[in-house]
Amino acid sequence: MEFVDMQRRVLIDSDTASDDAVAIIMALRSPLIEVVAITGVAGNVGVEQGTRNALYVAELCGSDVRVYKGANRPLLRELQTADWFHGCDGLGNHGYSPVYRTAESTHAVDAIVEAALKYPGIEIVTLGPLTNIALALEREPRIVGKVHRCVVMGGAPCCAGNVTPAAEFNIWVDPEAARKVFLSGLPIEMIGWQLSRFDAVINEHEIAAIEELQNPLAEFAIRCNSAAATAYHTQTGEFGISLPDPIAMAILLDPGLSVESSMHFVDVETVSNLTRGMTVVDQLNVSGDARNHDVWREAVVRGSKIKVCWSLDIAGWKSALMKSLS
Ligand code: BDR
Ligand code: CA
Repeated sequence: MEFVDMQRRVLIDSDTASDDAVAIIMALRSPLIEVVAITGVAGNVGVEQGTRNALYVAELCGSDVRVYKGANRPLLRELQTADWFHGCDGLGNHGYSPVYRTAESTHAVDAIVEAALKYPGIEIVTLGPLTNIALALEREPRIVGKVHRCVVMGGAPCCAGNVTPAAEFNIWVDPEAARKVFLSGLPIEMIGWQLSRFDAVINEHEIAAIEELQNPLAEFAIRCNSAAATAYHTQTGEFGISLPDPIAMAILLDPGLSVESSMHFVDVETVSNLTRGMTVVDQLNVSGDARNHDVWREAVVRGSKIKVCWSLDIAGWKSALMKSLS
């Protein structure tokens, strides 16, 4: 189905912690899209806390977007949070909490199905584990044909993971869900963790420039990432604030920021402990070869190729961030 010249409607699925929060600000402040819902999923923090964090960010932006609470654990595994990275409350432990807003009573999975059926051509951006989306696909497989783009922050296509050597957090937390989604036929754009490293990190000068904006959103964006900045330095030796979810959001808003990408079958490892959650990208398109039939059959038969982003317009990304916070 072609979805052209339509009002851009976006659903954000998020395990709202510090970088998710900045991504949500970018979306709620953008004149290009209408955010029809934010759906919460367990990941960085428990689903209650993450949903509260999303409500807080919506309040801060003066938005009345509906916020829904979803899956409280991965499909088959125990939840492993990232409080060691983002702080116990996901927002650097500064006591942020919503004052007026509460979550809708509808479950996030129902909200995703309803939104996709109501708004064909909808764009989905996922900032956390893919549990809610996998459950929505199970409940209503027709949503595959209704979604125009599904931008996924997740994966480590260059095999440098941030949780294990092989895997990125969002995919590692719920690899079974990720596999279902990657093999569903949804038009996925994979924004891997590697894109948020090195020159894409918000450095000390850029942090100072954001602080100089002297408004509550800019101040919050820096402060809520205080724990994450320290943890990122411990993890990588790099200084500054790394923002994987806002980079995915920037590409959702402006696809031109993805300067190099290619289409591949991608499968997700769910069996091995060593490589749990690894996003295996068929870079040379050899999955169709006879010797790979058995192992790659499911991805090839059931899935469609995924757009893997390899490089980012870094100046463009940083200017998009600055604009959102101004
Ligand atoms: C992803 O994991 C989380 O910690 C971040 O919010 C981001 O979605 C990066 O691996
Ligand atoms: Ca996230």
